[in-house]
Amino acid sequence: VKVTDLATPALVVDAAALEHNLSVMAEALPGTRLRPHVKAHKCSELAKEQLRRGPAGLTCSTIREVDGLVAAGIKGEFLLANEVLDATRLGELVAGGASILLAVDSEETLTAAIDGGVRQIVLDVNVGLPRCGIAPQKAGALAYKARKAGLDVRGVMGYEGHVTAMEVTKDRQAATATAMELLATAAADVGGEIISAGATANFHLNTVATEIQAGSYVFMDSAYGRMDLPFRQALHILATVISVNPRQGYAVADAGLKAMAMDHGNPEIDGSKVWFLSDEHTTFSSEELPVVGDRIRLTPGHIDPTVAYHDRIHILEGDRVVDTWPVDLRGW
Ligand SMILES: Cc1ncc(COP(=O)(O)O)c(C=O)c1O
Repeated sequence: VKVTDLATPALVVDAAALEHNLSVMAEALPGTRLRPHVKAHKCSELAKEQLRRGPAGLTCSTIREVDGLVAAGIKGEFLLANEVLDATRLGELVAGGASILLAVDSEETLTAAIDGGVRQIVLDVNVGLPRCGIAPQKAGALAYKARKAGLDVRGVMGYEGHVTAMEVTKDRQAATATAMELLATAAADVGGEIISAGATANFHLNTVATEIQAGSYVFMDSAYGRMDLPFRQALHILATVISVNPRQGYAVADAGLKAMAMDHGNPEIDGSKVWFLSDEHTTFSSEELPVVGDRIRLTPGHIDPTVAYHDRIHILEGDRVVDTWPVDLRGW
């Protein structure tokens, strides 16, 4: 199959760029220094590729991701780095032999872990992002309660998501250090061997975490592309030019709001200026307008939600489709 045979819009991944990203990360964070986040790709085939390069575990954001990895026969230690109030499905997976760590940040989520049959937890600590996480100074007391209830408290996690959009490396580094001071304090109170944190933005700047939860590095996006990072844009949205208006100087491609996430702004098209998107259209201009039927590639602004809009990912070597991977970890 050739790339020209694919129906559009479609997610296409350049195999060489993906390989570059996987190997650069494996070299920077060997073995268990990386716990790749599968939410960026929601694809068990790619999770296998990540594990083949050294990590012993994966990070997940939904029960469905954990469930899907187990269903795909993947062996590893899965950290659900998110709060849940019904851990029954996770408990069933544990009973079936799966190795699962669950984040808790309150009495309620601790009770859910116990009631659901989860036996290993980490304390999720708030390190500055107004999202989940217990206050650092309260983590030790919750860990004490968890141990009294018989749980294995493996350590802490803290997601410094408020620093990941800072484009200047020095700013990102300083903000990471501040956040990680909070996490280190909590880690000292909680005990255990795990300090899990970090992202693609600071995989090389976070020196406190024992493991980094990076996800987007596999595919990248235009937001991360503006940062000083050693990863290549591996994923594009393939689209077809369906209309051209030479009088007004624009062309229209068949990928719109329903093919990509827009929370980080418009997608980019090399050599073109994107005007706006509609449900099923991207209107753009370029010095030399394409003709109807031309194929173009768009770089999405935010990779994770973009991938979750699609059923499959096509892997390309040049213009040959060498593999097609289902985005099988979608849903909840
Ligand atoms: C809990 C958690 N850890 C890590 C990440 C880092 O992911 P990425 O490397 O894609 O920025 C995220 C992203 O939102 C996250 O929610």
